[in-house]
Amino acid sequence: MSIHDPAAAPAVGQTVVADPSSAVPLIPVGDLARTYARLKPEIDAAVGRVLQSGWYILGREVAAFETAFASYLGVGHAVGVGNGTDAIALGLRALGVGPGDEVITSPLSAAFSALAISQIGAVPTFADIDPRRMTLDPAAVAAAITPRTKAVMPVHLYGQPAEMDPILVLARKHGLKVLEDCAQAHGARYRGRPVGGWGDAAAFSFYPSKNLGAFGDGGAVTTQDPAIADRLRQLRNGGQSARYVHSLVGVNSRLDELQAAILGVRLDHLDRDNARRRAIAACYDAALAGSTRLIAPWTAPDVEPVHHLYVLRTVDRTGLKARLAAQGIASDVHYPTAIHCQPAYAARFRSGQFPEAERAADEVLSMPLVPELTDEEVERVAAALELEA
Ligand SMILES: Cc1ncc(COP(=O)(O)O)c(C=O)c1O
Repeated sequence: MSIHDPAAAPAVGQTVVADPSSAVPLIPVGDLARTYARLKPEIDAAVGRVLQSGWYILGREVAAFETAFASYLGVGHAVGVGNGTDAIALGLRALGVGPGDEVITSPLSAAFSALAISQIGAVPTFADIDPRRMTLDPAAVAAAITPRTKAVMPVHLYGQPAEMDPILVLARKHGLKVLEDCAQAHGARYRGRPVGGWGDAAAFSFYPSKNLGAFGDGGAVTTQDPAIADRLRQLRNGGQSARYVHSLVGVNSRLDELQAAILGVRLDHLDRDNARRRAIAACYDAALAGSTRLIAPWTAPDVEPVHHLYVLRTVDRTGLKARLAAQGIASDVHYPTAIHCQPAYAARFRSGQFPEAERAADEVLSMPLVPELTDEEVERVAAALELEA
């Protein structure tokens, strides 16, 4: 399969060289300098506008981005916060989750997903993943519910939406709140509708490498409920209901004007960037078709993923990583340790408790996949994968 796609984002000719003495240009897993180079005129204009405005925190850029992002997702409200971890923590607080409450989430994610639960004194508990989707297995969620469970937090991992319908049914049956962790899934759809509008609220990260990334930290919480949005607006800004009136014990977690302006630019490109990611993923899929040695990511029929990462599985990860590196192809592991096996949670969990997540952590390998990869780079990666398949 060829990568040539006239609708795709323009490729940037620049390549990053790992070792100046090497003749082989490195194909990076990601390269944010290329993102800036691609969008430079628009980003520079947005940044200049903010710098000249004299207003840098919670102003018209944040308000404009919140409106645009909510409208893009088809939800009532988006509230910008300092980062994705705070988006989860404040989202849960706004839903009434507090100290001692259990929140069921996936053991295969960035550890920040669970750390955000701990941050508010709530207790992360885990349910194993469905090894095909790589997201929470609804049957395992059902088995993990206890009288202390207050919420479920599915993670739309690698840009692949979690199986929401059975999770929402379970939540309704047991009176649980649902917060979606959408940090890796800006623009992904489940059953035709974007993620971020399925649960009671949803948390987004705008960490620079995300599909919708700032040039610094940023995050947002989305919700259909105006009362939850209002609570979030207070919580992020010291709990203030009016100037100098601290009605809630809030925090300082505000999206700043510069990041909001940059995110506004990047939002305009998001669908095109996601289409480019899909085209690249389709090339890799074709190279791996039928392989039993390298397992391509599975796309469920009810989702439209956005390929935040292209994560294949192999029992020979070390070997594959080394052979790709020898050809100048970088790869990475997301994530090498299931969260319940992290030292921070060692007192509460044991290894072997969530075997599918642990097996995945041993086998996953992420290939280069960002919209800025050149067609030639994509073809080089696909050819290398085809030889390995
Ligand atoms: C799935 C997931 N959840 C939460 C986070 C936390 O986001 P942030 O780094 O913006 O705090 C990240 C990113 O690291 C993530 O990938």
